[in-house]
Amino acid sequence: MAYNLLKGKKGIVFGALNEQSIAWKVAQRSVAEGAAIVLTNAPIALRMGELNKLAEECNAPVISADVTSNDEVKNLFTKTLEHFNGGVDFILHAPAMSINVRKGLHYTKNNYEFTHKGLDISALSLHRVLQTAMELDAINEWGSVAALTYIAAQRIFPDYNDMGDNKAMLESIARNWGYHYGVKKHVRVNTISQSPTRTTAGSGVKGFDGFINYAEKMSPLGNATSDQCADYAVTLFSDLTRMVTMQNLFHDGGFSFTGVTQAVIEQMEK
Ligand SMILES: NC(=O)c1ccc[n+]([C@@H]2O[C@H](COP(=O)([O-])OP(=O)(O)OC[C@H]3O[C@@H](n4cnc5c(N)ncnc54)[C@H](O)[C@@H]3O)[C@@H](O)[C@H]2O)c1
Repeated sequence: MAYNLLKGKKGIVFGALNEQSIAWKVAQRSVAEGAAIVLTNAPIALRMGELNKLAEECNAPVISADVTSNDEVKNLFTKTLEHFNGGVDFILHAPAMSINVRKGLHYTKNNYEFTHKGLDISALSLHRVLQTAMELDAINEWGSVAALTYIAAQRIFPDYNDMGDNKAMLESIARNWGYHYGVKKHVRVNTISQSPTRTTAGSGVKGFDGFINYAEKMSPLGNATSDQCADYAVTLFSDLTRMVTMQNLFHDGGFSFTGVTQAVIEQMEK
């Protein structure tokens, strides 16, 4: 069901790779709520070709940008400003990657080249995006920025590896920009801490099946799906949440505040 919550709004959606991507659902849901969007991803992701399907469905241009490149991020905003003939009202930040995770390097044996790269893609990119946006005055008054994160920023999930550090920094960068962009232009910046979700990035984490099932059992409402995450993101982009900023917002079916559930106790007693 659509409510026209984003009627007349314009946005940029980062990180839609394929139909499983959380950003893919956010793009679809934003357009269903009346928004016009620009889609962006790294050049290598565009070469996979899947994004064209979404672009057609959403009637959205695709502008490639590797989020680790100042020039490419600047080019993205310049072209977006031209396309919309003005600034945007919302941004979804969803790029993330850990090469240490990909290569299966244990947290105690990380390769720091990989660590730097992962930090740049997964956390500093939010800083780069917002710094560039501010320089080009690319976000409208009362705009909204949401970045996707995971509870491994606060608690240890051993196989989440250096992504836990990346997410902790991402959340801190969101808070800092929430202050600076709020003061300057009433732009709000939040992070959505989503349940484990079966996507390309999610499934790359060792033991993913185990911890998605554990999270399901540890959440009174069960795990939140990517479609439900998109619903939540749309509310944050809408005018109904104008005073919510600098928050890490758990979208996890109650996982974050549950000590233990009956289902887990029963499992442990077996
Ligand atoms: N899947 C989960 O369990 C889960 C849970 C909580 C939070 N998240 C977060 O949600 C976000 C989206 O991830 P997803 O699970 O939908 O997986 P995904 O693999 O579909 O999305 C990750 C995206 O990052 C993009 N990316 C990687 N390097 C990039 C670069 N250099 N420049 C630009 N883009 C780049 C990829 O192309 C891809 O589109 C991530 O921040 C992820 O950490 C995921």
